[in-house]
Amino acid sequence: MTVLTGAWTQVSARVLRQREHGAGHRWLDLEVPSGFDPPAAGQFVQLLLAATASAALLPRPMSVAACRRRPRGWELGFLYAPIGTGTLALAALEAGAHVGVLGPLGRGFPLESPGTPVLVAGGRGVAPLLFAADALGRARRRCEFLFGARGRAQLVGLAEARARLARLGGRMHVCTDDGSVGWKGHVVALLERVAARLEPPLVVHACGPHAMLKAVAHWGLARGVPSFLAMESIMACGTGVCRGCPLPRSARGRTAFRREIVPSLYGNEEWAMCCTEGPVFEAAALDWDRIE
Ligand SMILES: Cc1cc2nc3c(=O)[nH]c(=O)nc-3n(C[C@H](O)[C@H](O)[C@H](O)COP(=O)(O)OP(=O)(O)OC[C@H]3O[C@@H](n4cnc5c(N)ncnc54)[C@H](O)[C@@H]3O)c2cc1C
Ligand code: FES
Repeated sequence: MTVLTGAWTQVSARVLRQREHGAGHRWLDLEVPSGFDPPAAGQFVQLLLAATASAALLPRPMSVAACRRRPRGWELGFLYAPIGTGTLALAALEAGAHVGVLGPLGRGFPLESPGTPVLVAGGRGVAPLLFAADALGRARRRCEFLFGARGRAQLVGLAEARARLARLGGRMHVCTDDGSVGWKGHVVALLERVAARLEPPLVVHACGPHAMLKAVAHWGLARGVPSFLAMESIMACGTGVCRGCPLPRSARGRTAFRREIVPSLYGNEEWAMCCTEGPVFEAAALDWDRIE
């Protein structure tokens, strides 16, 4: 897998705007100064709220959902659910407020991988995949975009995602478990249907709940389709120091680890660090039977 070598920095970012994004989610645009390396799709940042704004001591990890150049830096977009201390405080920030941003962090989707890109999103997992679709569009590569959720209410920002895909020339396929929108069924069953109609080889990039990613990983491994999954772990530092975000390696992952000379901020033979080795992992690298 490609190692993204861009260095991370910690900067003070300015809130440009925030708005409702449907299904109880928010869209946040932050301006970071030009010294900040532009993130790649699948990478994340750590958002650090001022002590006056929140009781949250630790930063909160967030996938980058969009990145645009601005005269004095970059505009980063985030799609998030206000669910707890940190994200609720984030939701209360007005335009002009400042928030610390540490990043870009981790390894993103290897979008340069050959084959027809098939992006598979579950619920708010749509965030980094919209960014991936943008990057593929800029490289003049058309993608197939599968977006699934339990029901209509969990299809976060569907109308905007459709519009963005249409602009990029990608094709959107929607499904819901309850059949309230699109095809009725699970997104991995939709993947099976759509894949049968596509010109091989395929390459899958996915983000969503771990149960969905596990099913996508098994689907890709069984068919020899390279699959890259954006994982989440509870994180503290986001930089490999605290050892708090382990994911279990597969036997193949352990062998690969033994063969490589790895940076000290990666995990050990048994455990991969989600923040430095991920959050995007190739399906064969992890032991899916030990992932919840
Ligand atoms: C690499 C990465 C990318 C992420 N990208 C996004 C994103 O694009 N949009 C988004 O809405 N969220 C994203 N998350 C999850 C987000 O970081 C958590 O929802 C957030 O940290 C919760 O903080 P809080 O203070 O609001 O909640 P807390 O008060 O800390 O916790 C509230 C609840 O959320 C759970 N929680 C805390 N951290 C996580 C986590 N990392 N994953 C799952 N549940 C968690 C807690 O266990 C608890 O049940 C991402 C997480 C990671 C690791
Ligand atoms: S969050 Fe600290 S090591 Fe990954």
